[in-house]
Amino acid sequence: MELSDDQQRGFRENGFLIFPNLFGEAETEALRADLGRMRDIESDHVVRERTGGLRTVFRVHENDGPTQSEPFHALSRSPRLLKPATQVLGDDDVYIYHSKVNTKVAIEGTVWLWHQDYGYWYWDGVPTSNMVTSMVLLDEATELNGCLYIVPGSHELGRLEPYADEETTSYKQWTIERERLVKVLKESPAPVPIVGGPGTAVVFHANVLHASGHNLSPRDRWQVYFVYNPVANKPTEVVNPRPDYVRSVNFEPIRPMDDGAILAHAATSA
Ligand code: SIN
Ligand code: MN
Repeated sequence: MELSDDQQRGFRENGFLIFPNLFGEAETEALRADLGRMRDIESDHVVRERTGGLRTVFRVHENDGPTQSEPFHALSRSPRLLKPATQVLGDDDVYIYHSKVNTKVAIEGTVWLWHQDYGYWYWDGVPTSNMVTSMVLLDEATELNGCLYIVPGSHELGRLEPYADEETTSYKQWTIERERLVKVLKESPAPVPIVGGPGTAVVFHANVLHASGHNLSPRDRWQVYFVYNPVANKPTEVVNPRPDYVRSVNFEPIRPMDDGAILAHAATSA
């Protein structure tokens, strides 16, 4: 799937692109089924809310480790995600920096505070912000169930220094100091809600400002994120690097799999 000139311009200007229904119902069903299988795993790769519900499952893109998954491995290498990512990055040799599924379960699922991903990836030693995240909705996302919001054009703000918030949720989050955030949000275009049916995808730049609210609805909001980084932009050595499941050291460039691989692998892992 080649991006048109208009789409490429849109990404440069807004810092993100939306692809409605990029994946079909059978594919999202297969992915959901495999995630269901992982729900009770006890591992540092799996984060729960303070109230116990599943919040995040990390590292679903490899064929090894506690959260390995053949369908998610295939999704991470799908040409429908990989081609646009390499195009906007301007580099064919990319590896996966990390992956995660955020489940944000009905009623219980809590917020993701305003942040830029490169805010903390910079502290991981990544030299530049030329990285993208491709997110795929596995459920319908609505404003009520805590969809993601993206501030258009915010990648042009450069990196806003973050701080660690360890109070708001069960998971330490990097966010931006309140006064700065209020000023930036007042001066920016209105945040865009990333709503849509399962299979919808969005690709966004690592400096895009984004957040999501609590899930007030009776329905889960499952979304998967793959972060693509050019091998040329791999992290430099840092003291106490974060673990592999959030900052991968598998720098081998990934290659596209067959477009039918998600369903083919769903069948073999069932
Ligand atoms: C994130 O930005 O890391 C997650 C946001 C979300 O799942 O709503
Ligand atoms: Mn993020």
